[in-house]
Amino acid sequence: MVLNETIEKKIIPIAGGKGGVGKSILSVNIALSLAISDKKTILIDMDLGGANLHTILGIKNTNPGIGTYLQDRRKTFRSLVIDTPYKNLKFIPGDTLSYGMADITEAQKKDIMKEIQELDADYIIMDLGAGSSFNTIDFFLISNSGLIVTTPHASSILNAYSFTKNLTIRFLHKAFCKNKKMDNYLKKNIRRMLPGINLTLAHLLEEIGREEPHTMEKAFAFLEVLQPKMILNMVEEEEDFQMADNLGQLIAKDLLVNMDCMGTVLYDRDINESVHKRTPFLIEHQDSLTAQQIFRIGQKIVQSKHFPDLPLDLNEYSNSYELAQIETENDFRIFKQMKNEIEQGNQPEYDIDQLMEIIEKQQKTIHELQGTVRMMGLGNQANQSGHNENPLGGLGGLFNIG
Ligand SMILES: Nc1ncnc2c1ncn2[C@@H]1O[C@H](COP(=O)(O)OP(=O)(O)OP(=O)(O)O)[C@@H](O)[C@H]1O
Ligand SMILES: [Mg+2]
Repeated sequence: MVLNETIEKKIIPIAGGKGGVGKSILSVNIALSLAISDKKTILIDMDLGGANLHTILGIKNTNPGIGTYLQDRRKTFRSLVIDTPYKNLKFIPGDTLSYGMADITEAQKKDIMKEIQELDADYIIMDLGAGSSFNTIDFFLISNSGLIVTTPHASSILNAYSFTKNLTIRFLHKAFCKNKKMDNYLKKNIRRMLPGINLTLAHLLEEIGREEPHTMEKAFAFLEVLQPKMILNMVEEEEDFQMADNLGQLIAKDLLVNMDCMGTVLYDRDINESVHKRTPFLIEHQDSLTAQQIFRIGQKIVQSKHFPDLPLDLNEYSNSYELAQIETENDFRIFKQMKNEIEQGNQPEYDIDQLMEIIEKQQKTIHELQGTVRMMGLGNQANQSGHNENPLGGLGGLFNIG
């Protein structure tokens, strides 16, 4: 595993457990936003078996990709990198050979990981496809800071939770593979962590700690290294944000993983249309509110010198969720304003600068309002931390939290 905060080149895998949540769309558009910010970026289609990034990027699928590389040892991995029509963005296709993640051997996996780490770029974005097979998780663990995409829908949230659970367990297995006792203990007990059973990693480690406090402390320290991040995609209402907040808290409480929120992305029909037109959404609709949200996520990556640490002013926000919630509230204010204008027959004509100005103005107003609420002692917990009084909200029931 590479620790992204300590290296110049950042490797960012994108996964999510559930199919169809927008992993590929976000991989392409986040990669583009990094490239637009003048960062040398390589996008890799690792969804072997379901490779479709070339379509979203709008390029012909005639080049050999990872599937070919695995079958034809004369090819070098580096030779798979191709130019795209977009400055600073290069691409490794997944190609259409019938190679699935499950078909990759341990040796091939290690080889691909090594090759990826040797590529020349500022950022490497990997679209990993759906599922939480060992291989998918191992590729996600190539760095300590992959992105997990979910929508606000319960099934997708559940998948993101179980992906993170599998990820955490696999990570601990690897960390402790030389400690036979711990390894056996994990193997035996992890089987008890079935869906619907009220046994969490936090409980397990507590149990271990009673017998072996030193091992437990080590496990806590390992888990701090793991810093996956969440993106809430296809948001349709302001209230949807609560699902991200609940999920983040649940993962912190049960899996002892600190998962920051990178932000939210609106449900936007133009995204689908851009796939049909084979033009990346960010290129065709760069003035849109949804594109601004994606740029904002890209900016959080680019502006973070030590990614996965986010460029978050802790005097302003208590955590990444509070910031993401305020951003989402602003976005919906603008969204409603635009909708009103359309309904009144005025086609809004915002350009990027205007939109940024509006977002900044509204952000300032919200800060002032929040400050006033705090000063007046009116803020309940929900206002101040962006969290509900009942942190598990509707999710508690789904996960059988005691
Ligand atoms: N924010 C969004 N608003 C509207 N539609 C979206 C959004 N994000 C993704 N989509 C649409 O959802 C569908 C699935 O998106 P995408 O292919 O990126 O998902 P995926 O998670 O990569 O799926 P798979 O697991 O099959 O690889 C596509 O038709 C895409 O256009
Ligand atoms: Mg996909």
